[in-house]
Amino acid sequence: MEKKRILTGDRPTGPLHLGHYVGSVANRVNLQDKYDTFIIIADVQALTTNFDQPERLKQDVLNVAMDNIACGVDPAKATIFVQSMVPAIAELTIIYSNLVTVQQLFHNPTIKTEAAQYHFEESMPYGFLGYPVSQAADITFCRAHLVPVGEDQAPHIELTRKIVRKFNAIYAPVLIEPEQILNPRLIGLDGNAKMSKSLGNAIYLSDPPEEVQRKVNRAVTDPARIHPQDKGHPEVCVVFAYHKVFNSGEVKDIEERCRNGLIGCVPCKKRLTAVLNQFLEPIRARRAELEKNPDTVWDVLQNGTKRARTEGEKTMALVREAVKINYFPIPERP
Ligand code: TRP
Repeated sequence: MEKKRILTGDRPTGPLHLGHYVGSVANRVNLQDKYDTFIIIADVQALTTNFDQPERLKQDVLNVAMDNIACGVDPAKATIFVQSMVPAIAELTIIYSNLVTVQQLFHNPTIKTEAAQYHFEESMPYGFLGYPVSQAADITFCRAHLVPVGEDQAPHIELTRKIVRKFNAIYAPVLIEPEQILNPRLIGLDGNAKMSKSLGNAIYLSDPPEEVQRKVNRAVTDPARIHPQDKGHPEVCVVFAYHKVFNSGEVKDIEERCRNGLIGCVPCKKRLTAVLNQFLEPIRARRAELEKNPDTVWDVLQNGTKRARTEGEKTMALVREAVKINYFPIPERP
């Protein structure tokens, strides 16, 4: 039997951080053997909030590709590709735009949160408001069954499902209705629910050891703890949250010692720094190798994009027939 297909990906707006790793990359590495995995580098989506800084895109596309590969995404198993170079995604976006209302888009909670971040409330670019429609095209152009993403992406997956149902009901049942695989989320250094570049509360996969140390030292701990002997409340401590994710072997012991005032925040942070740097070391090493050979990374993206284009053409043939816009044969597009 053919493997089920996964589609997931990232917006290239800078290098990836630990939040991306926990919230997405780790799971795609785990799933790449079992599923036919497509990883989109969503540069068109990045442009919706950075359209006036196009000069950053190329480096960020490369960064995201290198970070994924450095974390263990294997280009021999997963198809990594660039969104803007797959015409089917743009074409589907236009066709899907008739199946969505602007009211629906304005109600999307993730759009609301991001609009506030980018000060778009008063003057909302059409492309930004509509990026979830484009994301529905990202997911459906290759007929993906599963989308492993964090909970902030759930509204977009729900919209995708609605669009697919509407399309299949009106035209012909040719699209796959995808399901979300819910990934965990990592809190930010400042205690914000989400680690994110725009909030400035992230540890990057490419941060050098001293930078990791500096950031961990700044991380928010239990404010009620003044002296090392004070009894701590690990449930409100960012450092503890990271121990839970990255230091499962010691986390029980650390929790007990914190609750009983037997470990201070300084040694606890020191230990976390060591654990994180140990985790990041092989990723940094692989990334350094890739940085020396960017051409091999561009080759990976070119090959992945070719395969994505082929899959897109297959879906477009079905879609053109369903929407009855296949008036005459057209030359094949490579
Ligand atoms: N919106 C996602 C993010 O902000 C990135 C993304 C674009 C994506 N297209 C996608 C994720 C398709 C999953 C599937 O991180």
